[in-house]
Amino acid sequence: MFMRTEARGAHRGPEPSRFHSEVELYWRRPPSIGPGAVDNSGANRILTSGPCCIRTQNTVLGTARTDPGPAVDLVVDSNVMRCRVIVDLDALRSNYARLGGLTGGKAVILCVVKANAYGHGALTVSRSLVTAGARHLAVATLDEAVELRDGGVGASVTVLCGLESGEDREAALRGIEPAIGSIGQLARWNETGRTLARRLSCHLLFNTGMNRLGIDFNPGRKASRAKLLDALSASDWVDPRGVATHYASAEDFRNRQTDRQDRLFGRQLAVLRDAGFAPRHVHAGNSAAIVYRGAGGPRDRNGHNMVRPGLALYGYVKGPSGRKRVANHRFRPALEWRARVAGIRDVPAGARLGYGGTYVAPGPMRVGIVSVGYADGFDWRLSNRGWVALRGKRCDILGEVSMDLTLVDLSRSAEARVGDEVVLLGSKPYGAPEMADLTGGMAYEVLCGISGRVPRQYRNRSSGL
Ligand SMILES: Cc1ncc(COP(=O)(O)O)c(C=O)c1O
Repeated sequence: MFMRTEARGAHRGPEPSRFHSEVELYWRRPPSIGPGAVDNSGANRILTSGPCCIRTQNTVLGTARTDPGPAVDLVVDSNVMRCRVIVDLDALRSNYARLGGLTGGKAVILCVVKANAYGHGALTVSRSLVTAGARHLAVATLDEAVELRDGGVGASVTVLCGLESGEDREAALRGIEPAIGSIGQLARWNETGRTLARRLSCHLLFNTGMNRLGIDFNPGRKASRAKLLDALSASDWVDPRGVATHYASAEDFRNRQTDRQDRLFGRQLAVLRDAGFAPRHVHAGNSAAIVYRGAGGPRDRNGHNMVRPGLALYGYVKGPSGRKRVANHRFRPALEWRARVAGIRDVPAGARLGYGGTYVAPGPMRVGIVSVGYADGFDWRLSNRGWVALRGKRCDILGEVSMDLTLVDLSRSAEARVGDEVVLLGSKPYGAPEMADLTGGMAYEVLCGISGRVPRQYRNRSSGL
């Protein structure tokens, strides 16, 4: 049996399958929704997000309201949640608190929620972090920042990749701050401030050796000093409240790149301070720098008073190179990714499985057809080498992962039933780093790669979310 997610019932407004924003469901009578359907944590409402195709055979169970958006009648089917991501907001908040502990409360935490909060759902994650005390958020693009503002997030929002020309005015009007990565951007931001007759805040981002983003500023060269200081002196409408750089390899102890970056950044800062600039926030530390190098903490030799963690908020830290693995850092993976067993098939010895027939059954086998594929972000490179968990038991992936479906070995899972959920990603040994090891990728990529068509649901919302 295959689960269908097509639209049915009376709709007012757009097709539910096109929703990518958070959706709130209110029902007219209590729905009998299976545990796999949605996070039914509210007394009379369900919150879910992502493409919302929740419907049942012929019965309209609820009315959905997009946020913002028109009301839509939905038909709810517990069987149709073909795969889903469940984010534990308690884990997220505890990771945030743990980062606060590591910095000894000395540094302000600029929470990186770009790329849909590393796949976790930017709006709900941001709201949750704000309820946990976060006052500063960082995204990559203006669109991501606007999503937060539209969702009512009032915290400061920094656009790490800077603004494109033409985006400055909207950013300024919405109280969004760019990380300024060139003298040209600084001049534009200043011009926007002048036009709006408002002093606009921003962070100055310096290139210290990663050679990706950031102002090229050589404090040892007179011309370079003059160019930057002249531009800053001419920027009356800009308040550079933060000065930052970005580490290329904070987790790597095989070379001295981070030390070199620190030295250069220190000299860049000294020039600014000598010229009378006193930035409120000085920052460089990502998750690895906080965990392995004490960035922002009591023993931070660089005196940074802001840190910019992303990955650790979500429960992971990139493993160090050239050093023994650091003992349990006590971050908890916040995300679990599950998919339903859509069908079970017994195959004889010699049967070829999936596209290309790359797996040949060595004997009679029980094969589970799982509702996840590379269009959901389940990496094709897991073909014939990854695994999923059914009731804690490992089930190997058989053959090629296809666009929407993946075959797994249920030969040792006699108890498996159609409609069961398998865990694709969760805690060890099903964590993002373990999956990344199998694909030759990175935990970041695994998390960010979970596609928009996978609904995100949330556990342990605090009140007001
Ligand atoms: C500029 C910047 N700062 C901070 C971060 C957060 O890094 P991490 O997720 O390793 O903590 C990133 C992530 O890519 C980034 O690009």
